[in-house]
Order: sequence, then structure tokens, then C-alpha cells
Amino acid sequence: MKKNKISKEWIKRQRKDIYVKKSKLEGFRSRAVYKLQEINNKYKILKNGFSVIDLGAAPGSWSQFTIEKYKNCKLLSIDLEEMEPIGNSFQIVGDFNKESSKEKIINYFKHKVDLVMSDMAVNTTGNKNLDSVVTGELCLEALRFAKDQLKQNGFFVSKIFMGSTFKEIVSEAKLTFRETNIYKPPSSRKESKESFIICKKLR
Ligand SMILES: C[S@@+](CC[C@H](N)C(=O)[O-])C[C@H]1O[C@@H](n2cnc3c(N)ncnc32)[C@H](O)[C@@H]1O
Repeated sequence: MKKNKISKEWIKRQRKDIYVKKSKLEGFRSRAVYKLQEINNKYKILKNGFSVIDLGAAPGSWSQFTIEKYKNCKLLSIDLEEMEPIGNSFQIVGDFNKESSKEKIINYFKHKVDLVMSDMAVNTTGNKNLDSVVTGELCLEALRFAKDQLKQNGFFVSKIFMGSTFKEIVSEAKLTFRETNIYKPPSSRKESKESFIICKKLR
């Protein structure tokens, strides 16, 4: 009953949302594209020719944006869910937490990359604290992977939730990178605890 009510509210909200409408008009798979666009406008994380890893990529708007707006990017995306192909990007369907998935990513590039971006989030359980803890763990996992796989001047961008893991993530990011910023893009829903951590230049 409660789930039914939540999904009705979700449908109502989606219908009213300007970013949902805009994404449909512009041919993007999700409103999430505007968060990446706003992060990119502010921090200039994307360039032509970049090697990019997109973690938690489905349905694929971040990957679409990267491939459509930037030339000659080498892009790998991974998600638990399958998604429609995007240009000449390489896709893995799998759990990023598994070592075998990380090995596949490393074997694909065989060199360090320019950007690791993660929009990974768990399916919401309805328990906001639990959601933020589990999504925080995904962010930490992505941060540790980025530390090993990024070029010296590379970028790391990840979804981060305000919650019990927030301070731990920010302090680990500051120990790993020279520049660390927290930014909530205007298109991120106000009622959501979501923000993004944007890190640059490995120490
Ligand atoms: C908010 S959506 C990403 C939206 C995406 N950035 C876009 O632009 O379309 C979060 C995604 O994270 C994925 N995800 C969650 N945990 C994951 C994991 N352990 N490994 C890979 N993907 C995961 C989910 O399946 C979901 O598709």
C-alpha cells in the first residue's frame, strides 16, 4: 500500500519536473544529465579525447552526454542493469564492488584515465539513513579505485549523501586529492540529501 502511494507520488512529480521534460525534448535518457552538465560547467571535468569511467551508468545519460558532446573520448560504463548501447563506448553489466568487475575495467584501459565519475546509488529502501550509508560505501569504493586508476591531474566526481559517512568520505578525499569540492547542482532535487564531491589532482 505504502509502495503504491510512493510510486503514484513519483509519477506525479516526474510529470511536473522541468528537467524530466527537458531531457525528453533533448533526447537524453534521464534528468540526471543536467547534474553532470552543471558540474561540468562549473569544474570543467570533461575534454575531447579523455578516457572516462562511468560507474553506475544506467540508463546512460552521463555516458550519452560524454560521447555526444566530446570527441574521441574512450568511455567505459558499468551498471548492475543492462542499458542500450551508446556510440562506441564499452559497457559492463555487473557489480562494481566485485574484484572481477574492477579487473575488467583495468584490462580494458591498460592505462591511467582522466576521469572517474560515479552516480552509483542503491535502490531506495525508504530508510534514508540506510540509503545514505550504503551509497556512501559505494562512493568510498569508487574513490579508492580512482586513486589507483587516475592520471596525476585526473578528476574524480561522485554522488555523496549528507549523512553519517559524509565526513569520512570528505577527509579521505582530502588526503587523496589536492582539490576537493562539494557541490549540489541546481537540478538536484532540493528535498534530496544528494550532493556531489569533485576532486582533482592526486597527491
Ligand atoms: C542514479 S542512477 C545513475 C543514472 C546515470 N548517471 C544516468 O545518467 O543515467 C544509479 C545507478 O547506480 C547503479 N548501481 C548501484 N549500485 C551499483 C553497483 N554496485 N555496481 C554498479 N552499478 C550500481 C544502479 O543500478 C543505478 O542504475
